[in-house]
Amino acid sequence: EKGGYDHFMIKEIFEQPRSIADSMRGRLRAADLHLQLGGLDSYLDKLACAERIIIVGCGTSWHAGLVAEYLFEELARINVEVEYASEFRYRNPVIRENDMVIAISQSGETADTLAAIELAKSRGASIFGVCNVVGSSIARATHAGAYTHAGPEIGVASTKAFTAQVTVLTLIAIAVARKKNTITEESYRQLLTALEAMPGKVEKVFEHASRIKEIAYIFTYARNFIYLGRGLNFPVALEGALKLKEISYIHAEGYPAAEMKHGPIALIDEDMPVVFLATRDSSYEKIVSNIQEVKARKGRVIAIVTEGDTLIPEMVDFVIEVPEVHESLTPLVSVIPLQLLSYYIAVMRGRNVDQPRNLAKSVTVE
Ligand code: M6R
Repeated sequence: EKGGYDHFMIKEIFEQPRSIADSMRGRLRAADLHLQLGGLDSYLDKLACAERIIIVGCGTSWHAGLVAEYLFEELARINVEVEYASEFRYRNPVIRENDMVIAISQSGETADTLAAIELAKSRGASIFGVCNVVGSSIARATHAGAYTHAGPEIGVASTKAFTAQVTVLTLIAIAVARKKNTITEESYRQLLTALEAMPGKVEKVFEHASRIKEIAYIFTYARNFIYLGRGLNFPVALEGALKLKEISYIHAEGYPAAEMKHGPIALIDEDMPVVFLATRDSSYEKIVSNIQEVKARKGRVIAIVTEGDTLIPEMVDFVIEVPEVHESLTPLVSVIPLQLLSYYIAVMRGRNVDQPRNLAKSVTVE
């Protein structure tokens, strides 16, 4: 059932080219500019008119929500709030008539997310679900939705569900943007074409798996890790830190790279591994100076860079390359090395990767 792999997690990591393709299947055809999500039809107008989108979720699903925040704002010019379901539900949130709620959940059974949906519903909000498990409680509780179609995810650490969530949320953001005319037909075409190419791009990251394993070996006994990124790579930094924490039990923190100087930089010394998401995008120059700040304090830097980068490899201790992609799609490739890094470190530490201590696949307690 593990298809020859040692763990479900690694099987699911390597499945991502296919699961990403599955999450777009029948929904996207760049050749004739076709983009349609069945469940979205009746909600497209509502989303296009929304004054605000409130996204709720927990854990990795909340990280996918943060990626979606950047995309909805950038492409569709809609104001977005991303909320931890557990915080949202216990506040007295302001939900206005033209607000739309998007709930994200792999399992569709997360108690806090379900409760947040019920609360938003009781205040008259329309809820759109992005779930992986068909027929799950959250899928049934929402007014409409789009499944992620990543297939069953068994490893407790979410991997292919995250990339499928990001893919589906990207499709939605693009569809809404087109509807609102906030992107040109040319950028629409470019985005659709770039999305179609994503499974192949993810496949290319796997060429570096043995290098990532070597790096993991070097850092197996690290006690702390910091992950830094900017823009769309900030949620990826959070996701990388969460992956490492939950399966290797190494303390890890994700931060927006620019926040370093407001405190966390005090942690940097020669024993501190720092993972930088440093792909060539609009934050590239800023990230380069953040790397310099960390190197000046002797931090050990692992940088995720775009193929062919010659500047950063000169500055840092280790690099892992990812292929160049459309900037809006960066998280789909930059998260892959982080999943692999945490997997290999956890395996080398002898951890129970698929079922880490204290964790369950569906968190049905409040
Ligand atoms: O099933 P859900 O997406 O609602 O689950 C939310 C979180 O419990 C989940 O993402 C958790 O953080 C994962 N173990 C992360 O890998």
